[in-house]
Amino acid sequence: MQVRPPQTDAEFARYYDLRYRVLRAPWGGEPGSERDEQEDAADHALLVDDAGNPLAVGRLHLNAPEEAQVRYVAVAEEARGRGYGRQIMAYLEAVARGRGAAAIVLNAREGVVRFYEKLGYQVAGPGPTLFGTVKHSRMHKPLK
Ligand SMILES: CC(C)(COP(=O)(O)OP(=O)(O)OC[C@H]1O[C@@H](n2cnc3c(N)ncnc32)[C@H](O)[C@@H]1OP(=O)(O)O)[C@@H](O)C(=O)NCCC(=O)NCCS
Repeated sequence: MQVRPPQTDAEFARYYDLRYRVLRAPWGGEPGSERDEQEDAADHALLVDDAGNPLAVGRLHLNAPEEAQVRYVAVAEEARGRGYGRQIMAYLEAVARGRGAAAIVLNAREGVVRFYEKLGYQVAGPGPTLFGTVKHSRMHKPLK
């Protein structure tokens, strides 16, 4: 299975739905809170199973020409631990390099910092707190 951008409106709908189910619904986030103002300009990563169901998603946008940011990495609960999160990140890092970025930043939830450390990211400091309870660490990885 290969990571690729969503290709149709229906596929984009399933892509955003996985984001919502994994990253927003468990905390009572409103539908729509799984998107931000960068969607049109961003690069989107999607991994689907043979039936077309999304297994994993992620997104990359540029904060500045040299700095890319990864957001909304989510793997379906039943598909975790099979390397799909790693595949999404490898794809987004390749996209970032192609866009000329020198580094990637992201905000990692507590409990997921170790996942990103395994992929070469380092904690740079505290990040935002979502829904008043979900604490994040700011993480960084140079690409060059
Ligand atoms: C975090 C998440 C993206 C990881 O995806 P995944 O497909 O299960 O991870 P992978 O199978 O690619 O794991 C890659 C490596 O990271 C490790 N890993 C994965 N999740 C981990 C975690 N929460 N803590 C520590 N290590 C973790 C794996 O054991 C594996 O290590 P290995 O290469 O030594 O075997 C996934 O669990 C998820 O979607 N979680 C809920 C949403 C979330 O928190 N997203 C991140 C928002 S910041």
